[in-house]
Amino acid sequence: MTYTAKFKVWRGDDEGGALQDFAVEVNEGEVVLDIVHRLQATEAPDLAVRWNCKAGKCGSCSAEINGKPRLMCMTRMNTFTEDETIAITPLRTFPVIRDLVTDVSYNYEKARMVPSFAPPADLEPGDYRMQQVDVERSQEFRKCIECFLCNNVCHAVRDHEENKTTFSGPRFLMRIAELDMHPLDTADRREVAVEDHGLGYCNITKCCTEVCPEHIHITDNALIPLKERVADRKYDPIFSVASLFRKNEKREKPGATPGGSTPR
Ligand code: SF4
Ligand code: SF4
Ligand code: FES
Repeated sequence: MTYTAKFKVWRGDDEGGALQDFAVEVNEGEVVLDIVHRLQATEAPDLAVRWNCKAGKCGSCSAEINGKPRLMCMTRMNTFTEDETIAITPLRTFPVIRDLVTDVSYNYEKARMVPSFAPPADLEPGDYRMQQVDVERSQEFRKCIECFLCNNVCHAVRDHEENKTTFSGPRFLMRIAELDMHPLDTADRREVAVEDHGLGYCNITKCCTEVCPEHIHITDNALIPLKERVADRKYDPIFSVASLFRKNEKREKPGATPGGSTPR
């Protein structure tokens, strides 16, 4: 079954652009990325698009389809009616480089800020055998393909460019939660989550969870438990007293790193 569908594709660069109309052939079983490839092969050979696997696993082909953040390679054409006009636009939260390609450096900068896994210093290789029970909670987060659709949809940065300096988005708060749930990790990541990655900006709207192509329960299984851990610490009387001492200590030592991780 073949038909012709109407598309509006955003064309432009960092200085501006507009939606351009196309009428493109659609065949049975095709996805939106097939249409973009057909456009490149016919009417728009210079149309810029990023993709790699065409199998929903590399996370490269993220875009907004009729305003919804989606993977182009996993969006089937039969989810639209034949007379529907389909708009394909670049991710809105990140700066456009050209056409459907955005600059997602923000995400890599935030990734580098997450303190790495910190096993006990005296642990020798083979000393500890991981069991399924150890990874039961965090295993889900390892499915992340870094498509950044969750960071793109989160209103805390989507509507507030100024928050990008202080908020890392759901993808990296989830990474902190994942490390926090690791039985061998010795770092206390709660202060880092709040001070360096802006956990407080998240008001658990679950928009990130709704767009995740890996169906990871980002809000329920990562962000809310992390918030609960932070709240436990904040209202722990022993921690409150220790925290006062630490603040005084930092004042006396101007070289100390604010928000640095502390031993459990
Ligand atoms: S749940 Fe939190 S991180 Fe996810 S989209 Fe909503 S505010 Fe952003
Ligand atoms: S958590 Fe889901 S939406 Fe976010 S980057 Fe990973 S795969 Fe993409
Ligand atoms: S091309 Fe790899 S996820 Fe779409």
